[in-house]
Amino acid sequence: MYLKIENLKLIGQGCSKIVYQHPDDQNKIIKIMNPQRVSIHGGFKNHSKMKQRFAQGIYRHFRRELIQYLQLCKVNYQKNQFTFPVETPYGFIHTDQGLGLIAEKIVGPEEKSLTLEQLARTGQIQDKHLKALDEFFDACCDLHIVFAEVNIAGIMYTEHRNHKPEFVLVDGMGEKLFIPLRAMFKSINTRNVRKVEKDIKQKMRQMMEAPLASEQVFVQ
Ligand SMILES: Nc1ncnc2c1ncn2[C@@H]1O[C@H](COP(=O)(O)OP(=O)(O)O)[C@@H](O)[C@H]1O
Ligand SMILES: [Mg+2]
Repeated sequence: MYLKIENLKLIGQGCSKIVYQHPDDQNKIIKIMNPQRVSIHGGFKNHSKMKQRFAQGIYRHFRRELIQYLQLCKVNYQKNQFTFPVETPYGFIHTDQGLGLIAEKIVGPEEKSLTLEQLARTGQIQDKHLKALDEFFDACCDLHIVFAEVNIAGIMYTEHRNHKPEFVLVDGMGEKLFIPLRAMFKSINTRNVRKVEKDIKQKMRQMMEAPLASEQVFVQ
């Protein structure tokens, strides 16, 4: 039995994934790889033939996210901690458009998905967001969360998760280097996280200087 994607409600879309509301649980989403980007080998169409045949092909995004989550649970085993500043993955589901990753839904204060990019572009950034963003990057360094391709649209804002302003990473986490230097050495990882932080904050400031009306941002 496959879940039919056409029956699901669309929540968001990026360059490689499409995100839907879980049909039976308001607190979960289902992520699939955009079928239009998938080659017959299960790799990305725009990648070389050799790269398309690599181990998990399009699913290496899921693999990185899961390995990162397992690593966090392992390091924090004694604390019995399962929630981190990254979306919590819950498992897989079969769909008529490939494997779906079930994950925690991150909802903004108005019950809508809200990314750091949307906040910045619509000129909504306040002190509480800046403080939460500093805390987010500090926590990523402390917890040794590796950034593969983190961007301003992959960081989401919520006040529901821990009843306080908080940013959560939903995309681009995990090690992607062939020699996993960031995963092996916390100091190297921290340097990379701080660099990404600087780039993202600069982008945020640029967006805040030229804000768009919110309708222009929320249109899919
Ligand atoms: N856990 C989540 N909860 C709510 N919305 C999400 C979640 N993950 C992703 N989204 C929405 O879907 C969009 C695309 O998801 P993302 O994982 O970033 O895909 P891509 O890898 O294609 O960039 C995000 O920018 C966000 O708007
Ligand atoms: Mg993204």
